[in-house]
Amino acid sequence: MASGTVLVTGSAGSVGSALVPRLAARGWDVRAIDVVGSESTVGQQLVGDCFDDSVLDAVLPGCKAIAHLAAIAGEAPLSDIAPSHITGFGRLLEAARRHGVRQVAFASSNHAVGFIPSDGRIAGVEVAARPDGFYGVGKAAGEALCSLYADRYGFRTVSIRIGSFRDSPNTVRHLATWLSPDDLGAVFDAALLAPGQGHSIVYGISRNKRGWWDLEPGRAIGYEPADDAEDYIDVIDPQSGTPDELDYLGGSFAWTDHG
Ligand SMILES: NC(=O)c1ccc[n+]([C@@H]2O[C@H](COP(=O)([O-])OP(=O)(O)OC[C@H]3O[C@@H](n4cnc5c(N)ncnc54)[C@H](O)[C@@H]3O)[C@@H](O)[C@H]2O)c1
Repeated sequence: MASGTVLVTGSAGSVGSALVPRLAARGWDVRAIDVVGSESTVGQQLVGDCFDDSVLDAVLPGCKAIAHLAAIAGEAPLSDIAPSHITGFGRLLEAARRHGVRQVAFASSNHAVGFIPSDGRIAGVEVAARPDGFYGVGKAAGEALCSLYADRYGFRTVSIRIGSFRDSPNTVRHLATWLSPDDLGAVFDAALLAPGQGHSIVYGISRNKRGWWDLEPGRAIGYEPADDAEDYIDVIDPQSGTPDELDYLGGSFAWTDHG
């Protein structure tokens, strides 16, 4: 059964390229937008700035939901993070409100809480933001915007704190943080179909035996991860990565001086 039309922002990036075909396979009519072109032929492929009002007024009519990925996807000066993660995302949410699109799945990050020590305890979603850099500050602010639009305007928003998205894990840290391509599709599909109003935070992590994050909030919206990084244990070099990148949930972000 068709799920409706979803706008996927940042669709030409590494996450978007994997997500677009998986959402299409799950019954979504995908409208994909990125500032750079994509070779993908899945759905409707558009080139444009998803933080531009005139672009949004053209692409949002008819959409039921938004999967928001577009952003600077790593550490950057705060003066670059703010327009991409905060004012840009705010403009997108405001345009969504204008066009009656109230279902939003937001690609947040483990770096919103990356300064939590990885001391063996499982981190839940009730912990206060504990960003490990300006990128994490941007993600925490994005989650706050999702919360605001849910409370004030009746949106259904889900912030998905993605761990390490990649085809397969290849470092010791990934044994805890990996999100597989199929689980990516599953968690976004669940977020885009989550019923009711309000804001939820879930961890976008596979069911990794060594995972550091609580998967129950994801299960509460219907995300049941299927893959486990442990299945790759034989091909992962035990010396891969650096020992201190296992000290904090955010890995090396936590001890890099962002100046
Ligand atoms: N890759 C991961 O492991 C991971 C982990 C946590 C969170 N995330 C988040 O997931 C999202 C996607 O990450 P990615 O790894 O695919 O990054 P990426 O850099 O590969 O892709 C981001 C895409 O967004 C596009 N973009 C940026 N600004 C835009 C705009 N104004 N309008 C339209 N397109 C725009 C870029 O052109 C790029 O193609 C990001 O928000 C990132 O922070 C990714």
